[in-house]
Amino acid sequence: TRHLLGIKNITAADIELIFQTADNFKEVLNRPIKKVPSLRDITIANIFFENSTRTRLSFELAEKRLSADVINFSSSNSSVKKGETLIDTVNNILSMKVDMVVMRHASVGAPHFLSKHIQANIVNAGDGTHEHPTQALLDAFSIREKLGDVAGKKIAIIGDILHSRVALSNIFCLQKLGAEVMVCGPITLIPKHIESLGVKVEQDVMKALRWCDVANVLRIQLERQQIKYFPSLREYSLYFGINKRMLESLDKEIVVMHPGPINRGVELSSDAADSGQSIILQQVENGVAIRMAVLYLLAGGK
Ligand code: CP
Repeated sequence: TRHLLGIKNITAADIELIFQTADNFKEVLNRPIKKVPSLRDITIANIFFENSTRTRLSFELAEKRLSADVINFSSSNSSVKKGETLIDTVNNILSMKVDMVVMRHASVGAPHFLSKHIQANIVNAGDGTHEHPTQALLDAFSIREKLGDVAGKKIAIIGDILHSRVALSNIFCLQKLGAEVMVCGPITLIPKHIESLGVKVEQDVMKALRWCDVANVLRIQLERQQIKYFPSLREYSLYFGINKRMLESLDKEIVVMHPGPINRGVELSSDAADSGQSIILQQVENGVAIRMAVLYLLAGGK
């Protein structure tokens, strides 16, 4: 059974194939009838043990555009609240003849664990602080669309790197495609030894902005912080927050990205998030084509 559990264990050729397939689906999504029959014999369960807006809706729309049958499960209003285990929950859903599972979970490795116990294709839609592979794919696809290529580009990932699955999947994906990657943030929010992944580390946000072609800005993930980290949101905004004045002080026009949800006025001001340099909503648009491509290829590319 084939899965997409992370970017770490896929190749640059796999990513290129996903991008070429997504190019075709993007063309389909721009037609008056945005639907193809590719997965009309497939049933997909979106199983979310953590909150989501973009990822869940974008997977659901991708599945419907591919003509799959779709069921949605959210742990907050399910029998998980009565004590049912993860494997029992998923096996009960699969016994209704479900072929693929898209899963988000707060625990690192939850989809990897599940992949050893169930008979279905699994797509990781985010596991704790570990990986969020389709986010990294849509981010790199959006850079390729905006700048023509990812290879040779300088990407600064700025924010709470320590608690971010988006950062780790982006690092793997961008490096496999030949980009240079820098991480920038307060030292308390940068994982120890991250240099061993081959990334540059910078604590001065203006230096990061001057260095990069693309700034991928991340949110401070208070919900994942076990202890109260320095800095506070107010301090973070003061020392690492990015605004339009900072972007205009650069001698080049960089691309601004954010995976969402934005904490406006903390990591990114509204005048920067809504500026012409921002491709934040194009990222969301591309998410549907990328997820169509992933599901289509996992189902056998029929
Ligand atoms: N980017 C992202 O994963 O957003 P959601 O948490 O809203 O799905």
